[in-house]
Amino acid sequence: MTPHDRRPHDGKPHDRWILRTENTTYAVALAGDGQWAELTAWGPHGVETGPSALDWSRRTHFITPADAAPAEYIPYGLRPFTGADLVAQRPGEERGVWWRFTDATEDGDRALRLVFTDELLGLTAALCYEAVPGTDVILRWTELTCTGDTELRLERFDSAAVNIPAEAGARLTCLTGQWAREFQLTQLELARGRFEMASTQGVPGHAYAPWLAVQDAASPAEGATPTYGIALEWSGNWHITADAEPGGAVRVRAGRLPHESAVRLASGATLTTPRLACAFSPDGLDGLARVWHRYERHLTGDRMDRPRKVLYNSWEATGFDVDAASQLELARIAADMGAELFVVDDGWFTGRPDDTGGLGDWHPDPASFPDGFDHFVSRVRDLGMDFGLWIEPEAISPNSALYAEHPEWVYRVEGRPATLVRNQLLLDLGRVDVQDFVLATLDRLLGDHDISYLKWDMNRPPTERGRPGAGPVERQDLDAAHVAGYLRVLDHLRTEHPHVTVEGCAGGGGRIEHATIARTDVVWPSDNTAPLDRLSIQYGYLHAHAPHTMSSWVTDSPGVFDPRPRSLAFRFVSSAAGVLGIGADIRTWPEERRAEAAEWIARYKEIREVIHHGEVGLLNTPADATCGVQYEEPGGGRVVVTAWNTGRLDGAPLVPGRPARLRLRGLDAAARYRDAASGQVYSGAHLVHSGLPFAWTERYDAELVVLVRQ
Ligand code: GLA
Repeated sequence: MTPHDRRPHDGKPHDRWILRTENTTYAVALAGDGQWAELTAWGPHGVETGPSALDWSRRTHFITPADAAPAEYIPYGLRPFTGADLVAQRPGEERGVWWRFTDATEDGDRALRLVFTDELLGLTAALCYEAVPGTDVILRWTELTCTGDTELRLERFDSAAVNIPAEAGARLTCLTGQWAREFQLTQLELARGRFEMASTQGVPGHAYAPWLAVQDAASPAEGATPTYGIALEWSGNWHITADAEPGGAVRVRAGRLPHESAVRLASGATLTTPRLACAFSPDGLDGLARVWHRYERHLTGDRMDRPRKVLYNSWEATGFDVDAASQLELARIAADMGAELFVVDDGWFTGRPDDTGGLGDWHPDPASFPDGFDHFVSRVRDLGMDFGLWIEPEAISPNSALYAEHPEWVYRVEGRPATLVRNQLLLDLGRVDVQDFVLATLDRLLGDHDISYLKWDMNRPPTERGRPGAGPVERQDLDAAHVAGYLRVLDHLRTEHPHVTVEGCAGGGGRIEHATIARTDVVWPSDNTAPLDRLSIQYGYLHAHAPHTMSSWVTDSPGVFDPRPRSLAFRFVSSAAGVLGIGADIRTWPEERRAEAAEWIARYKEIREVIHHGEVGLLNTPADATCGVQYEEPGGGRVVVTAWNTGRLDGAPLVPGRPARLRLRGLDAAARYRDAASGQVYSGAHLVHSGLPFAWTERYDAELVVLVRQ
C-alpha cells in the first residue's frame, strides 16, 4: 500500500474515501467532527454522486448523534444506546471508548485503512478495507492495538458493521437448519427490533450459516432489487446481528464470539478480527449468488484448474464394515462406471467396528486389510482410480490408546464429567503439541501410503471447554486458538502435500465458511443425500457458495433419509449440479442401472468445466413443480441446465405437448442455441421469454440439457 497521509486536522482535510470493485462503489466519509466514519453510498458505480441515502436515518432525538449514524465501526462510549461494534475497558473501570480519527492510508480505490485513537484508554483501531480484484466483494476487518501500559478487556469486537437503507424494514435472507437439513433458505422481515444468529459450537454449525443477505422489504427478492450480503470468514464461534435502527436503516454487525465471553489485549498487542466479506448485486438474490461464486473461485485460486474428480465413497454402502474384499468389489464396479477416485470413509482404522472407539489411533486395521493396506491401495490404483481416505483429526475415543497416553489433550473442566457426543471427545487443537500430533499423523499417512484425497470430518462440538493448568481463564481464547490450529493444519496440507485434494466436512455441513473454502477443494454440505431433501439443501447452498465446492453423491433410493422415490436420473442430475460422486451400494445395482450410471458419469465429465466455472442462474425454487440451475460457460459457448420435476402438481397434466417451462436468464436474445441431444434450436429470446420446455412424465423427472451457441 502506498501511504498517503490524510490528517483532517493538519490544515489539509481529507475526509471522504472511495473503494471500487468491478461493478460497485463503496463510499465512506468522516462524521461527528472526526469521531467516526460512516457509509455514504454502496451500490453500482456512480451511486456516490448525490446525497447519501442514509442521511435521513439520523433525524431522531433523545439519543446521541452517533447512535443514529450509519457508522462503519463505532465503540460503546460514543454509541451508548443502539448497539456498538466494540465494547472495551480497562479491567475494573468503566466500559467505553471515546476515540478520534487520527490517520488514513489508501491504495488508490482498492484498499483503505482508517485509524481511530483513544489516548486516555490506550487503544487504536484500524478499520481495514480491501476490494477483491475481479469480484464485487469488499473485505473488511479491524485491527485493535493496546497502546497503553494497562491491558484491555474486549467484550465485543466485531469485524465490521454495514448499514443498509430500508426505511420500511428489511427482508433478511439466511441459511438455517440442523444436522441433515442444512442450508434451508429462510426469509424474514425485520421492521423493528433485532435479529441475531450465532454459533457457540466451536464451528459455524448446522443451525445457521455465517452469511446474510439484506434487501429493502418493499422490493421483490428477485429481479432488479439492490441486494447486499455479508459472510464471515471464521471457522469457530460467531454472531451476526441485524438491528432495525431508530432512524430507519438496518445495521448489520458480525464478528467472532470468544468462548470465555471476553478477551484480554495485552499492552503492545494487536488483535486482528476475522474478515467480513461484503458483497453487492443489483440483481436480487440470484445476482448476489453469482457475486459469491466469483469470490469463491477467487479464493480457490489456481486450484480451480484441477478437474474435480468423480468419486465413489463407500460410507453408505458398507458403514463401519470396511474390509479389503468388499471395498475392492465396490471399487471395481465404480471404476467400470467411470469413477475416477475411490474414498474409504470411516471404519478403516484399528478399534473401529462401530462409533464407540478407535478415534485417535490412526492406523489401518490389519484385520480389514490382511494383505497389507498398501497392497489394497495399489489394487484400487490398478483400477485406474485415485485413492482417498476419511479422517477426523480433532476427535478422540475415550478407549483409544491416544487417550490413555494423553488425557490432557482433551478439552475438559477439572472435576466435571466429560459429556460424550457420538461416543467421542474433542482434542484441544489450540495446543501446539496437539497440532504437532495431527500434522505428524497426516504426514505419516500421506507419506506412507499413496493417498491423493482426504475427507476431514469433525463430528462433535466442544462441551466442557477448558484447558486446566493453563492459567487464568480470562486470559485464554480457546476458540481462536482452535481455529488457528485447524487453519495451520489445513495450510500445511496445502503447502506440504499440494497433490492431495481435501474435502471439508463436519457431520455434514457444520463447518462451511470462507476460511475453510479457501483451504479445501470441496466441502460436504449435508449427510442427507435424499433426492428431494438434497435439492432444497443445494438450492440454499448455491445462494452462498460456488458449485465447484459442492460435493454431492448419488445414493440409493429409497435411502437412509427419505422414502420418496425419485429416478436415477433425478439423483444424477442433482449431484451433477456440483461435484459428482456416488455413494450408493452399487454392488446391488443391476447391470442396466450400472450402464445408465456410466452414461451419466460420461455426460457429466463432458460438461463439468461449465458447471464449475460457469455463471449460475438459480431457476425457480424446490417448492415449484419445475426448478433448475443454469450454468453459462465463460464466453457463452455452452449453457448447461440441470432441471428437476419435484413431483408437485402444477395444474398441468404430465402429457407431452403440455410441457413445463423453465425460463433461462441473461442469454443473448439474438443468439441461437442448439440442444446437443435433441438437435432442437432455440433463440436466446425464446429461452428467456418462453423458457426451455420439459415434457415430464412420472418416470422422466430430471434432465441435463446442454445448449450449444450456434
Ligand atoms: C459424518 C460425515 C459422514 C460420514 C460419517 C462417518 O457423519 O458427515 O459423511 O463420514 O461421519 O462416521
